[in-house]
Amino acid sequence: MEFPVLKNDRLLRAAKGEKVDVVPVWVMRQAGRYLPEFREERSKADFFTMCQTPELACKVTLQPIERFPLDAAIIFSDILVIPQALGMDVEMRPGEGPVFPSPLSEPSDLSKLGKASEVCCKLQYVFNAITLTRHRLQGKVPLIGFCGAPWTIMAYMIEGKGSKTMSKAKSWFYKYPEESHALLQLITDATIEYLVGQVKAGAQLLQVFESHAEHLGPYLFKEYALPYLKLIVDQVKERVAAQGLDSIPMTIFPKGGHYCLKDVAQLNYDVIGIDWTVDPAKARELVGPNKTLQGNLDPCALYASKDNISKMVQEMVNRFGVHRYIANLGHGIYPDMDPEHLAAFIEAVHKHESKE
Ligand code: CP3
Repeated sequence: MEFPVLKNDRLLRAAKGEKVDVVPVWVMRQAGRYLPEFREERSKADFFTMCQTPELACKVTLQPIERFPLDAAIIFSDILVIPQALGMDVEMRPGEGPVFPSPLSEPSDLSKLGKASEVCCKLQYVFNAITLTRHRLQGKVPLIGFCGAPWTIMAYMIEGKGSKTMSKAKSWFYKYPEESHALLQLITDATIEYLVGQVKAGAQLLQVFESHAEHLGPYLFKEYALPYLKLIVDQVKERVAAQGLDSIPMTIFPKGGHYCLKDVAQLNYDVIGIDWTVDPAKARELVGPNKTLQGNLDPCALYASKDNISKMVQEMVNRFGVHRYIANLGHGIYPDMDPEHLAAFIEAVHKHESKE
């Protein structure tokens, strides 16, 4: 597919470990409710209708790009489109977040799920939204595609909503280890197809969100998360190459996963995202010199004055260094954030030029 020439390749350069002119920056949930223009669109349509309508998904993806000098766009969608495509109902309830009216409760429920090979047909709307957005971006910045990691998706499929302990989902590891692996393998197979489809459609970097890493700990992570994260990165890169497509960098964001950074650094991901509870120097020590780090300002730090935001960003970039670094928050931006404070964050990041 032919797309407009990319004019700002800072994010991709940083991801690949190449020198950059200034530190690239984007923000998780940058297309979201803190923007009045997003709330306006959202008041007219249901959340998943927005995801499923390429014109609407494209429009809100571009909103933060039109407002701020961000270095990347991320396609408007959700990690829960995979369980939906496997046949589960998901509702987005105001004030509550995503809810599955009939979550998986025992292994026999696995037979109700669809096949991994069918997922791509059902998610054609995401591919269409990506292709449309690549054109409408006119090469201004690269477009990020994404998915949830298998454990994070499994957790939602069993819990049916957010949970403090993840006790229902984790109980499967202790009661039904074989079926847990079967479910994780199904999600992995579907995810690989889905990510390759996103690259074919025009995604230029892929981020895998392991949002619930904190619940696993080192032993469960090694058994139930790491092998699937490895399959995803290896298979996606292999299939992208086999189809003659340009190789693309991949990011893993194991939120709350201090304990797993060293293991995750052994995988073929180019970028490792860290949340604000991790010290950048410690993260660098754990992942070694050959990975790009992404993060990690506390999302709450944007409640500070603009002057203080600028100081905190200065300290953050000093800790990470200008190279092999992508600035971001340590998690998604909050819905009650003043957009002007995000502008101050971005401006402060861009002050950091390469001296080499
Ligand atoms: O701008 C972007 O980052 C792209 C779009 C995006 C959304 N969800 C849109 C969204 C992305 C990358 C996601 C990922 C996602 N979705 C994750 C991983 C990142 C993370 O937060 O850890 C997770 C766990 C989900 C599942 C999900 N979707 C939850 C838990 C919620 C409720 C929390 C909330 O912020 O309200 C959502 C809803 C959601 N996804 C919204 C948006 C803009 C808000 C819903 C709304 O508009 O009503």
